This record gives sequence, C-alpha cells and structure tokens, in this order.
Amino acid sequence: MLIITDPAQMAEQCAAWRQAGQSVALVPTMGFFHQGHESLMQAARKNAAKVVLSLFVNPTQFAPTEDLAAYPRDMERDKLIAEGNGVDVLFAPTPELMYPQGYDTWTQVPGLSRLLCGKTRPTHFKGVCTVVLKLFNITRPDLAFFGQKDWQQLAIIRRMAGDLNLGVKVEGVPIVREADGLAMSSRNSYLGEAERTQAPQIHKGLTLARQLFAAGETRSSVLRKRISEFWQEKLPLGRVDYLELVHPETLKAEKTATPESLVITAVYLGKARLIDNQILG
Ligand code: PAJ
Repeated sequence: MLIITDPAQMAEQCAAWRQAGQSVALVPTMGFFHQGHESLMQAARKNAAKVVLSLFVNPTQFAPTEDLAAYPRDMERDKLIAEGNGVDVLFAPTPELMYPQGYDTWTQVPGLSRLLCGKTRPTHFKGVCTVVLKLFNITRPDLAFFGQKDWQQLAIIRRMAGDLNLGVKVEGVPIVREADGLAMSSRNSYLGEAERTQAPQIHKGLTLARQLFAAGETRSSVLRKRISEFWQEKLPLGRVDYLELVHPETLKAEKTATPESLVITAVYLGKARLIDNQILG
C-alpha cells in the first residue's frame, strides 16, 4: 500500500490509473478505524480497480467548541487495517496541505445542511462539503463510498455531486453495529462505562418505532413520543438533541410515516454526541 500526503502527487497517481483505464473508488474518512470503516473499504475494493482511502481529520467541519484536538487518532493501527482491506493508496494530507495560507473557497448545500444536525452544528456540513469536494477534485473517483450511519451527510454529498455534475457515483453502505446494537463510531471511545451500557438503547428506541409502525401506527407524533418515553426509562444518562421522522432524501419532517420514512436522532451521552437512524419499513 502506498502512503501519499501531497495532494498533487495523489492527483498524478489517480490520473495515471485513469489513463490506464482503471476505475478509482474513494473512501473518505477521519481515521481511528472500526468495522464500519472497514465495510466501506471492502465495498470499494469489490467495485473498483483501485481504492483510495483518505484519512484526514478535517478541521473545517469542527466548530471551535467541538472535539478537534481530542478527536481519537491511531495512524499506525489505521495503516495496518487499510492494508489488510486491500487499499491501494492511503491518502493522508496535513491541514497545511489541504488549507494553505490564504485558503478562501467554500462549498455549501444550505437547505439540507440547516436541518437535523445542522441545527446544533450550523457550520459542520459546509466544512464536510468543502473537504469532500476537494477530495473528489484531487482523485476524480468513479465511485465514492459513504456510510448510512451519517445519513444526512450522505444525502448532502449526493445532492452536491448531482447539483455540481461531479460525475461520481455516490454509494451508501449500511450501518455496522456492535453485537448489542450500538452503531460503531470513533466517538464511542468517549463513553464511560455506565454510558456505554446505556448507549445501545438509542438503537433499541429506533427499533421500537419500527415495531410500532409494523403494528399499524403511522402518526409521527405518537412514534416520537413512544421513543422518548422509552429513552426516559432506559437511557437516563442521555440528552436528546433531536429525534425526527423525515423523508429519506429531502430530510423534511413527515407527520405521517410511510415505509420509506427515516427515523433519525442525535443523543448526547457524556462527552459524546451519538447519531443513529433507521428506515421504518
Ligand atoms: P468518519 O466519521 O471517519 O466516517 C467515515 C465514513 O465512515 C463515513 O462515510 C461514515 O458514514 C462511515 N461510517 C462511520 N461509522 C459507520 C458505521 N458504523 N457503519 C457504516 N459506516 C460508518 O464522516 C466522516 O468521517 C467525515 O465527515 C468525512 C466524510 C471523511 C469528511 O471529513
């Protein structure tokens, strides 16, 4: 596996592959890999001749009050995991290479970015879109893989890729969970013991909504109320940031649930802010 830090060298490598007729898949990440990241690497490996895995803790998607400095990192372990999953290039640029002195260009998808996570993280998706567009421009991938765990991020990137005619196929990969249902996340490492014990209740609450929907309940207000009551009992350490029932593409709140509706949440648990979602049907 090659390790490249210079964006210009990364672009050259991808251009050479393209010229040789080899397809390129990109998997953007911030590192500290778990099986969720690995499933993206594996999907990329299956679907393209060359796999580029980017590892960059992107400063522009963290607000000044957020966990940029504390964000977990383990480059040596990450290299081994990437190599083990057949990655061709690990692209790990520095912040100075991605945002040199005088950097002043931004990309936004404002409508979708205002909703859900955007309410408490108003600048987050502007940073995500900007870095992902830069990564797309550097690598010009045929395919790019994103996890459904970050459903809003996936919807926004899809919108950006379509709106700006980027010509990249954006693929969503199902959520990988721990055995007890907790969605895998680098931020799970922030959880204390009692918090970790309660964390799987986030997923159980969303699953309860699925069960109620299957039994005929379609009123969004009732579904949300039942989940909230469940969490009050089972997740007393949690503080709900949002819990919404939305259309899976527009992310607009829906009063009446359909099988395509998405139930989506963010919950503060100790130092962590955890997100999860599930399609109702
Ligand atoms: P990061 O949080 O490292 O996640 C990288 C990718 O892994 C994202 O597409 C995310 O949805 C996916 N992922 C994380 N946990 C997952 C799980 N349990 N199951 C399936 N996929 C999972 O998301 C980012 O980084 C950044 O915002 C990034 C897109 C790299 C831009 O900086």
